[in-house]
Amino acid sequence: MTSTLISNIGTLVTNDPSHPGLLGIVEQAAVVIDGSVVTWTGRAADAPAADQHYDAAGRALLPGFVDSHAHLVFAGDRTAEFDARMSGQAYTAGGIRTTVAATRAASDAELDANLARFVREALRQGTTTIECKSGYGLTVEDEARALRIAADHTPETTYLGAHVVAPEYAEDPAGYVDLVTGEMLDACAPYARWVDVFCEQGAFDGDQARAILTAGVERGLTPRVHANQLSYGPGVQLAVELGAASADHCTHLTDADVAALAGSGTVATLLPGAEFSTRAAYPDARRLLDAGATVALSTDCNPGSSFTSSMAFCIAVAVREMGMTPDEAVHAATVGGARALRRTDVGRIAPGARADLLLLDAPSPVHLAYRPGVPLTAAVWRAGVREL
Ligand code: NIG
Ligand code: FE
Repeated sequence: MTSTLISNIGTLVTNDPSHPGLLGIVEQAAVVIDGSVVTWTGRAADAPAADQHYDAAGRALLPGFVDSHAHLVFAGDRTAEFDARMSGQAYTAGGIRTTVAATRAASDAELDANLARFVREALRQGTTTIECKSGYGLTVEDEARALRIAADHTPETTYLGAHVVAPEYAEDPAGYVDLVTGEMLDACAPYARWVDVFCEQGAFDGDQARAILTAGVERGLTPRVHANQLSYGPGVQLAVELGAASADHCTHLTDADVAALAGSGTVATLLPGAEFSTRAAYPDARRLLDAGATVALSTDCNPGSSFTSSMAFCIAVAVREMGMTPDEAVHAATVGGARALRRTDVGRIAPGARADLLLLDAPSPVHLAYRPGVPLTAAVWRAGVREL
């Protein structure tokens, strides 16, 4: 195996509590990677020798972003819907059916190529771990193929047959829940790590969501929930009760919801791209952080409500609009996402962690919020491989 010394790092974000501050910062730092893992971090002056050398030129190095919520198996886009929304039309879950029709009509090769394109697009912006949901197929075959395709690109695959009720079951939602908890689950479980449900008016209510998540758990999947996005509702409480890894969106929270998240191991995953692209009020990250909840930031990348793959954009919006400090937002976009995926090998730079590294074309991680919209990726390593 070949070792590489990355030296002359101006600011190293480790997220390792043995170093100072929320981000575990080391100034004038170096990192050694060997094969796919980090083997050493510390002050550059103390760095051991390695086979190869990379000069970071005084810039900031941080863990690759962990995007723990994305919907990337789809075809087509919804430009017209976005355009209409920006002229005043409201966002509803109904638009999902437009993408369902386009996705069903697409070939496996088209869906695979589209997904590969988005994974690459995200990687170019520093995302080295990405979760991917099904949810635009809504038949047994289409959901299973979405997850089969997703599993070729990421281990973080999520069964979201319960995105909305399939059009064929519009008059029989109970029948659709039976399908999602039965035959569809059987076909999808082999390709999925997680089970998710869109618990929302116009999608699935609390009882339906509980049945779907419980069935998934019985098949060995771990729950995560689209909760409290468009309105107050039972999603967050259900997520906490079932020990879900994450409650996602968390835009409309009661004090009891905030307290439940704070007292749980369920991460509050905030998706500012969705509020940006639907002209909705942003979730209150400050309230969650002050209560003691663990917060993650993710893109929710999908063609309807949030067509961005940029974690840097989410960081900038979270800092400007959601009461997060730059350090808190960077933390949420790295180790926060890792916690939402129950991963300890990513989201931090420490001996034993996977060598997923983002070198910024900037001296400090604060620049991710300070220089919104500016491409700041200088280099990316994924599992020790220099990708760009
Ligand atoms: O997370 N909320 C449900 N699902 C997506 C939206 C999907 C769509 O509009 O196509 C979301 O925002
Ligand atoms: Fe989503």
